[in-house]
Amino acid sequence: MPLGHFAIDALQIKPGLVLAPMSGVTDSPFRRLVRMASGDAVGLLVSEFISVELLTHRTMQAMVRMAFHPSERPVSIQIYGSEAHKMAEAARIIEDAGADVVDINCGCPAPKIVRRGGGAGLLRDLPRLGEIIEAVATAVSLPVTVKIRNGWCEDSLNAMETLRIAEESGARAIAVHGRTRMQLYTGSADWEVVRRMVEVARIPVLGSGDVLTAADALHRFETTGCAGVMIGRGAVTNPWIFRQIVDEASGRVPTEPSWRERIAALEAYLGMLGDTYPARVLPGRLKMMLSRLIKGIPEAPEIRLRCLRASDPHAMLAMLGAHCAAHGVLDHAPPTDGSLAAA
Ligand SMILES: Cc1cc2nc3c(=O)[nH]c(=O)nc-3n(C[C@H](O)[C@H](O)[C@H](O)COP(=O)(O)O)c2cc1C
Repeated sequence: MPLGHFAIDALQIKPGLVLAPMSGVTDSPFRRLVRMASGDAVGLLVSEFISVELLTHRTMQAMVRMAFHPSERPVSIQIYGSEAHKMAEAARIIEDAGADVVDINCGCPAPKIVRRGGGAGLLRDLPRLGEIIEAVATAVSLPVTVKIRNGWCEDSLNAMETLRIAEESGARAIAVHGRTRMQLYTGSADWEVVRRMVEVARIPVLGSGDVLTAADALHRFETTGCAGVMIGRGAVTNPWIFRQIVDEASGRVPTEPSWRERIAALEAYLGMLGDTYPARVLPGRLKMMLSRLIKGIPEAPEIRLRCLRASDPHAMLAMLGAHCAAHGVLDHAPPTDGSLAAA
């Protein structure tokens, strides 16, 4: 089954598989990990969102969030805010940093952000959203994209109107997470809205929400005709998911990485963390990722506890390797059906 692909201006996104922006998750080391795990099966990587207030003041936090490694390309940097001139200024900083795309967040549900009119708050003020997109598109030669939810609440499902305003104001692609702001992350994402947007859109439409397996992604391409599928939480525990989707689409059996490959990925990730953050934060960050990637390991509670107690990240990974070797599973993949699959 062919995968979708699309162009944002001259930038080819092929395949149309995109790492969704996730605050606190999709920093540069995680994006690099995804690129390493999935290779060119991931068409575009999106940063976590960055406040335009912090970015225009060039705070350390914002500059770290905006930084990216050459292996991440093509890379999109997402910003949030509610003032057109600040959004435009932030976009210029992103352009100077050499990013490929600037994305405007219109989906974040956090009260402190929507209260100031940013994130999903923009869905309640579409004229302002139009002004912002226009100001950003005029300020930079980078393509501008937007990521929305399907409305503020059940009584104001306005994705179709948001699409029209985005197109008229100069957006080059639009991604929709099919939940309302009031839904937060409850229930399930509505992909029917993606299908309806695809029918009328003049720009590429990407869908987001609840894609956890290769089969889920292919089903969404097939039933909506969308140009791209965004994957968020599914990539958090499985950075190999993009590769698995391409395998499945090409008729190959998607493979699960063995424990040896997982430990190697964690070792590489530790190096990437070291390129980005001070040494004191590395153990904590590694532990977070380690807990995500060792689901299904034999005697999980015991090894997890031992790793969490360790303070040296290299020692943690050595312990993990020794644990898998002792259980004879280094070259096995985590069970997907209750049994241990050979790698
Ligand atoms: C921890 C977390 C952080 C997120 N941060 C952002 C963000 O910074 N910007 C954004 O547009 N969406 C953000 N999202 C929404 C995701 O991009 C995505 O639309 C949503 O999680 C649904 O997709 P999924 O089911 O594949 O995770 C976040 C989601 C999660 C779970």
